[in-house]
Amino acid sequence: MAAITLCLINQKGGCGKSSTCFHLAGAFAAHGYSVLLVDADPQGSLSQGFLGSDFVENLPASETLAALFDESCFFLDQQLLIRPTGFENISIVPANQHLADYNAPKPATAGMTQFVVREFLEQQDAYDVVLIDCPPNLYQCSWNSMIAAHYVVIPVPPEDFGTQGLRAVHQAIDNARQLNPTLRRLGHLVTRYDKRLLVHRSYEERLRELYREMVLDTIVPEASAFKVALACRQPVEFYSAKSAAAATMRTLVEELVARISQKNKRRTFA
Ligand SMILES: Nc1ncnc2c1ncn2[C@@H]1O[C@H](COP(=O)(O)OP(=O)(O)OP(=O)(O)O)[C@@H](O)[C@H]1O
Ligand SMILES: [Mg+2]
Repeated sequence: MAAITLCLINQKGGCGKSSTCFHLAGAFAAHGYSVLLVDADPQGSLSQGFLGSDFVENLPASETLAALFDESCFFLDQQLLIRPTGFENISIVPANQHLADYNAPKPATAGMTQFVVREFLEQQDAYDVVLIDCPPNLYQCSWNSMIAAHYVVIPVPPEDFGTQGLRAVHQAIDNARQLNPTLRRLGHLVTRYDKRLLVHRSYEERLRELYREMVLDTIVPEASAFKVALACRQPVEFYSAKSAAAATMRTLVEELVARISQKNKRRTFA
């Protein structure tokens, strides 16, 4: 059976999409799940987190997610795009600047190109969960990810309500559901939260009023452990399993797994 596929999406930059994917992968692995990460962002932050920036920047397009979009790579063995990360049970399809050539702004006009990530993931039956890290826009890479995914998680930092463009994100999800009717919203995930700040507490309250059960209970705090672990190229689960940050990510995995089981009795974790 194809792995359960989650994409992390928000057109707001710097809200913690890549960081959450990075550390969540460690937490899923710690729970015994086999994880495939897909870096769908031409910035390649997730890939750099695991593989280092020099290595990632020098990868040819044919060894990155861009190969799926590149007709000249048609005959390449797509399995070769999947790399080990050095952590048991975590593999990654990396991305770098080559992907930018394919991240076109009007994704729904791209014909069969809209389905390349989906077709690739349909062949991956060795994983329990796939996490797709999207760029800070709703162009072709995010669109392909939504068409490939079963669930969307929307990381939101607790400020700047008006400018986050959440409405545009929800509109894009609704549009993607026309091509992928099984796509479901798993919830908004409050990230980079500082409970000492009144503005953060008020924002969280307002978000829960607006979206109710569509906001995950787990909140990802702003914590230096996430940054330090990332700088050391280790998900916080492996860098410091006893830290509060690692515990938060494990709680998040448990909540995501419970929500998925609740939403779909057939498509659930083993
Ligand atoms: N919970 C957190 N605590 C501390 N630092 C964080 C946290 N989440 C993210 N960061 C840091 O904030 C910066 C931006 O995070 P990240 O790259 O994950 O955002 P993003 O949404 O993926 O950005 P982009 O939209 O550019 O892809 C990074 O330096 C990251 O390490
Ligand atoms: Mg990112």
